[in-house]
Amino acid sequence: MEEAIFDNNANKERFLSLMRSVERQGIENLLEYIETKTDFYTAPASTRFHNNCVGGLLAHSLNVYDNFKKQLALRKIEMPEESIIVAALLHDLCKCNYYVREERNRKVNGKWEQYTVWSQTKNVSVLLPHSSRSIRIIRSYLPLKFIEELCIFYHMGPFGGEDYEYRNLLQQTNARHPETLLFYVADLLSSYLDETIYD
Ligand SMILES: [Fe+2]
Ligand SMILES: [Fe+2]
Repeated sequence: MEEAIFDNNANKERFLSLMRSVERQGIENLLEYIETKTDFYTAPASTRFHNNCVGGLLAHSLNVYDNFKKQLALRKIEMPEESIIVAALLHDLCKCNYYVREERNRKVNGKWEQYTVWSQTKNVSVLLPHSSRSIRIIRSYLPLKFIEELCIFYHMGPFGGEDYEYRNLLQQTNARHPETLLFYVADLLSSYLDETIYD
């Protein structure tokens, strides 16, 4: 296992203490699933776009939590703390058991050398797209409030779907539930401004 770039232990402790502050049936079962059946605490957040390093997904989830809270405060929009925690910390649970290390070869100055990249598994266990997959996994352990589901489902904003109905519903959702727009913004700020691309 490669070294984590972040203080993974501190991030894990923070994640657990936030999650355990949520008083909802199923939390401990979900945490046990995450601990024993997934690579959540060591997985990268992407193959090459942001936090593509060990511990990247955990760090990204905490960044989204921090940025979402800031965005809500700036706009004076209230949302229960436990919904902020559930939506932010679990929105990318679909990325668990999803990235694998792959060996590649490249020619440098006329000589072949091996290097490793992150790539996506060909063996996705829950055959649903990104946001729906997170929701499906969370729901196996934990009931979700509707606003949490909306934040997670639309967290990719316009990149979450191209068809007319998706775009139309996204607009309506963002207008009626501005939390969902701020959640998308928090995800963007985290990915593009707070996180790094690693070679
Ligand atoms: Fe995502
Ligand atoms: Fe994300």
